[in-house]
Amino acid sequence: MYDETLRAQKELVLCEDGSNTLYSKEFDEPYHSTKDGALHESLEKHVKPSFSLKSHKDTLTILDICFGLGYNTFATLYYIKKHNIKTKVHILSPEFDEGLVRSLDTFDFPSEFESIKPIIHAISQNLFYEDEQFKIEILLGDARESITKIEEHIDIVYQDAFSPAHNPLLWTYEWFRDVRAICNDDAILTTYSTAAAIRLGLYENGFSIFIHRAELMRYSTVASLQMLEDLEYIDMELKKIRNTEARSMKDKDYLENMHS
Ligand SMILES: C[S@@+](CC[C@H](N)C(=O)[O-])C[C@H]1O[C@@H](n2cnc3c(N)ncnc32)[C@H](O)[C@@H]1O
Repeated sequence: MYDETLRAQKELVLCEDGSNTLYSKEFDEPYHSTKDGALHESLEKHVKPSFSLKSHKDTLTILDICFGLGYNTFATLYYIKKHNIKTKVHILSPEFDEGLVRSLDTFDFPSEFESIKPIIHAISQNLFYEDEQFKIEILLGDARESITKIEEHIDIVYQDAFSPAHNPLLWTYEWFRDVRAICNDDAILTTYSTAAAIRLGLYENGFSIFIHRAELMRYSTVASLQMLEDLEYIDMELKKIRNTEARSMKDKDYLENMHS
């Protein structure tokens, strides 16, 4: 049973695209932009930019930070099936709210996820799913701990934690250093954040920064360990000259608030 105290900390919210999300009272923030919509945001900010760059690969390993309601993972499966993409995909997703993942079987997901309901069911039961094309693993516990234990090499990172203001330890220089350490040399990272501090944390760890212009929503960020041809490049050295106050976030400024 999903712990009643934790359930009480969340409220169901209908987004403008018609998909449902939750509002976290603990983090004082919705799980998705209610304006952009949970499904639309997953597809436009994470899945589409990633697969437009990587769908030619035979295998892909994706780090989905953090699992939450699973929209990014489920939208990935939906997109792959819809476009008949043959890539084998392994998704690793840290999450410390086990009760939330276990409750997803009864969550009212959009009709687009109808065909993957058995996968949602398996994940809510076992925190794991595997077939010939997909392997999905929820890494239970604090993402800061889990990431140091990952042995796979990551091709795509969906950086979709609660906002830097509300969950800073998943946005610091040190966090991105740990992310970088498990990435392949041509890995990309997608995130809704366009903040200078976040882009600097990525840049200082070797990522080049690009603007992704999504459909019907605010632009977002794609970071890449290799130069990308088709996206708008941001010259971070120039940004640093123009904004001398900008700094990446550092663990030491937030550690006393770290989740135990
Ligand atoms: C914005 S939501 C993620 C939404 C998710 N990507 C989706 O598509 O539904 C952030 C999630 O991060 C989890 N979380 C926050 N801090 C964490 C940490 N330190 N370790 C693991 N999970 C964490 C929360 O429980 C929440 O489920």
